[in-house]
Amino acid sequence: MTVSEAISKLATRLSAAGLVFGHGFDSAWDEAVALVLHVADLPDDRKSLHMRLTAAQVREIDALASRRIDERVPLPYLTGVAVFAGHRFLIEPGVVIPRSPIGQLVKRHFSPWLQRPPGRAIDVCCGSGCIGIAMALEFPRLHVDLVDVDPLAVAVAERNVDMHNLRDRVRVIRSDLFDGIDAQRWDLIVSNPPYVDHTDLGSLPPEYGHEPALGLDGGGLGVSVISRLLDGLPARLLPGGLFVCEVGASAPALMRHYPNLPFIWLDLPEGGEGVFVLTGDSLQPPSAAQHSTESSSEP
Ligand SMILES: C[S@@+](CC[C@H](N)C(=O)[O-])C[C@H]1O[C@@H](n2cnc3c(N)ncnc32)[C@H](O)[C@@H]1O
Repeated sequence: MTVSEAISKLATRLSAAGLVFGHGFDSAWDEAVALVLHVADLPDDRKSLHMRLTAAQVREIDALASRRIDERVPLPYLTGVAVFAGHRFLIEPGVVIPRSPIGQLVKRHFSPWLQRPPGRAIDVCCGSGCIGIAMALEFPRLHVDLVDVDPLAVAVAERNVDMHNLRDRVRVIRSDLFDGIDAQRWDLIVSNPPYVDHTDLGSLPPEYGHEPALGLDGGGLGVSVISRLLDGLPARLLPGGLFVCEVGASAPALMRHYPNLPFIWLDLPEGGEGVFVLTGDSLQPPSAAQHSTESSSEP
């Protein structure tokens, strides 16, 4: 069987299986291409389509497809890799799969929101490290801190830093948000924290059940982690700096919680929702004093 034939056959099988494509792929076809090329260890170009697969490779494709369909395992957990903002990242079960629309903003250098080339940035709730590492690759002089509370995420982020040869500019820190980091400030703070509320958490498609709850669960209203992050922000963001954050469908809850914060909600031409920026200059006085008392019971 050729690669091309295997992709067509697999795409038909995947599309008939009622899967959800929310982990870095848009369609059965995209997943079929990625899975077959992964097993065949071939690059994503036209020449690969005519190559012949061995019988062992055909069997492996079949076995991985069965796990994707029967167990609803997201494809990056089967292949061990994900592509984010045009770069490859190592992934393993237990670490959230990269897919944040913040990747679109990284590729555009956060234009027009970033006022100056950043010197120091931090990716809080970094997971695999995908956002912070993509930033380090886009801005060749940028120093980046990657922070996560989960030791497995920290270990995977370390491996990704090594894979991209960024040891000299990127460090990985295990910390509960800013709590374990001494008094420092950054020009650019990005975060894709856990923000799924408990209503949505109970109704996610089975694929999301393979991801760690720590990476998704944002508390009853979805804003527990982001509230703590926002309250610490004025002490951590430099004047003239930028905070970029994804809260997805929890955006309305966040606006109710902080009615006076000047969130700027972004259009995301390549898809996604609930990404905002806050400028360092707009964060005075400290946001902790600004949030609504009536809805502050959850965090
Ligand atoms: C939605 S995932 C995002 C991962 C990565 N930034 C991405 O976009 O793929 C959220 C991450 O936040 C981490 N996390 C949850 N609570 C945290 C906390 N209190 N402090 C630091 N990290 C936390 C989880 O371990 C998880 O890796």
